[in-house]
Amino acid sequence: MYSLRMRAEKGGEHVSGAERLVKGEDIKKVLTALAKRPKDYDKMVITVEKVQSVEVIPKALSVFSYDFESVSLSHGFAVEKLKQAGIEESVALKAVELLKKGSNPKGGNMRGAVLMDMESGERLEPDKERGIRTVRVDWKNRESVRRLLKERGIRKQYLERFLDALVLATKNVHCGVIAELCWSDDPDYTTGYVAGRDIGYVRIKPMKEYGVPIGGRVYFIQKERRDEIIECLEKKAMIVEVL
Ligand code: COA
Ligand code: AMP
Repeated sequence: MYSLRMRAEKGGEHVSGAERLVKGEDIKKVLTALAKRPKDYDKMVITVEKVQSVEVIPKALSVFSYDFESVSLSHGFAVEKLKQAGIEESVALKAVELLKKGSNPKGGNMRGAVLMDMESGERLEPDKERGIRTVRVDWKNRESVRRLLKERGIRKQYLERFLDALVLATKNVHCGVIAELCWSDDPDYTTGYVAGRDIGYVRIKPMKEYGVPIGGRVYFIQKERRDEIIECLEKKAMIVEVL
């Protein structure tokens, strides 16, 4: 199989990214589709890379959705879910506060996720402006999962984002991430999630106020597994078979 990755930037800022894992015969078709995604950019980079082996994950995390009346109620619920996933309350609260104020020490958003020691809350990512990115992951049949999610009532404008986030969170768990906390940096998108092996993928709305351009991800991990988890998240190719 091949890893196809597209990223686009404008004025030096990342504006769009997408990736697929495909068979050789599908490269052309998928490249064309990926290249059409960014609408306004001044540089696009497309990478096509053969992957030696692909691990198959039979099933995605189970999905649950909850709506609350305020951001603070949502955050309270997220912390309860993280506790259920094995994270100390003080560490879960620290992660929520970190994403609220912005996890990039220089301001703005990070380019990837925070790695947080699940015991102490210490940040473990080697570069705190970059973070760690989960890449080389895709659905076996993206089209059929898209259809199923549509039938379950996910709004069309959020489908691609949800497909990407669910497959990413599923890979994370398979790489040894104990739990994850996320909300988007897109000012219009206030739904976030917590995820973990024992809690599934729990969508929560609103995780931030409408119009806020700050978001991020925190991956809770066991400190001693840091290097193998980074290697897995960034390098191992994984395909998720079904929803
Ligand atoms: N956010 C911000 N900057 C990004 C970025 C992202 N998601 N992905 C790439 N970049 C920029 C960074 O400047 C990066 O340099 P760095 O490694 O010093 O941070 C540079 O592009 C090169 O990145 P690289 O990791 O080599 O890109 P890649 O070719 O492997 O592609 C993507 C990675 C774009 C496919 C991946 O980031 C992505 O967007 N995946 C699909 C969607 C997704 O996962 N979305 C998040 C969850 S919904
Ligand atoms: P998004 O859900 O795309 O709005 O991204 C929210 C935040 O997640 C970004 O600000 C980054 O900090 C982080 N992020 C983006 N892409 C990735 C990735 N592939 N892996 C891990 N973290 C990411």
